[in-house]
Amino acid sequence: MTKRIGMLTGGGDCPGLNAVIRAVTRRSIALGGYEIVGIKHGWRGLLEMDTCEITRKDVTGILYRGGTILGTSRTNIYKDEASKKTALANFKKLDLDGLVAIGGEDTLGIAKKLTDDGINVVGVPKTIDNDLMGTDFTFGFDTAVEIATEAIDRLHTTAESHDRVLVCEVMGRHAGWIAAYSGLAGGADCILIPEKPIDLDEVCEMIWRRHKKGIFFSIIVVAEGAKLKGHDEILSSNHKDDFGHVQLGGIGTVLSKKIGEKTGYDTRVTVLGHIQRGGRPTAYDRVLATRYGVAAMDAVHNGHFGVMVALNGKDIIEIPMSTVAEGIKTIDEKFYEMTKTFWGY
Ligand code: F6P
Repeated sequence: MTKRIGMLTGGGDCPGLNAVIRAVTRRSIALGGYEIVGIKHGWRGLLEMDTCEITRKDVTGILYRGGTILGTSRTNIYKDEASKKTALANFKKLDLDGLVAIGGEDTLGIAKKLTDDGINVVGVPKTIDNDLMGTDFTFGFDTAVEIATEAIDRLHTTAESHDRVLVCEVMGRHAGWIAAYSGLAGGADCILIPEKPIDLDEVCEMIWRRHKKGIFFSIIVVAEGAKLKGHDEILSSNHKDDFGHVQLGGIGTVLSKKIGEKTGYDTRVTVLGHIQRGGRPTAYDRVLATRYGVAAMDAVHNGHFGVMVALNGKDIIEIPMSTVAEGIKTIDEKFYEMTKTFWGY
């Protein structure tokens, strides 16, 4: 008998989502005996019964496309009892035998709750922030780092030509992976991350050090969730989503102003924002996303539910879905310390 497997993408869009959708679908065809049901716009589609059949034809030509053909949202079906009841009832109405949920901490947090409520779910870890527990890397991170690094390379041109300090704000709500990797790859003179608040004087010290050496430009990379010592994180809006997240953003502008005031140097800011999540995934992310998709469908086929597929060294493994709820995967301290070798020289 044919089994019906639902699939959805939740949370922020991310390069590589379509590669997972394609891989799950193609693997299901190779295994035989499956129908893939796309749930549109994340968990919202489950509340609204907004679904579509996904066939071989639907996944043609999507491997290299950014975003998600299923759409996404930050809907939380566990935000109240009524939504939870509707979601569980609709899962039954859709006659689904299992579900592949592709998302970050919020989406997989819901997947965990559904598992506890008796639903067959397999999770696929996604986020450009790379801050999910249990997996070495999430897909989307490599693309975001590539885009941020190219931006930093380009900022060097203006910084050098005009003897300016250029501050580049990148994404990273709770963890500074994108900032640390792109900052190292782009030769940043100081990198600010959420995990390690820094004093403004320390940042300016790096810039003065370079001036003393006759280098009159500097590049500072800052994660959106970074804080200066003794200050709160900077919000771009007080609006909270279904999961209670505020919108971050603005630290780059604040930092740039403070550096300018303290040093007297011409200091400007560039905020990369959603550019980091847009467009084609890198080859690395396409491969990782494809491996995750195949492994997720294999988990479904083997009846392994309540698990998330994860990268462990070179291998894709299955780990308990509850791993994601253990907390945020913050930056590797040794790695961050190592980046300091290149600050201010
Ligand atoms: O979680 C990924 C991420 O890109 C974060 O880095 C960022 O804080 C957040 O999503 C922004 O989300 P949205 O586009 O919904 O404002």
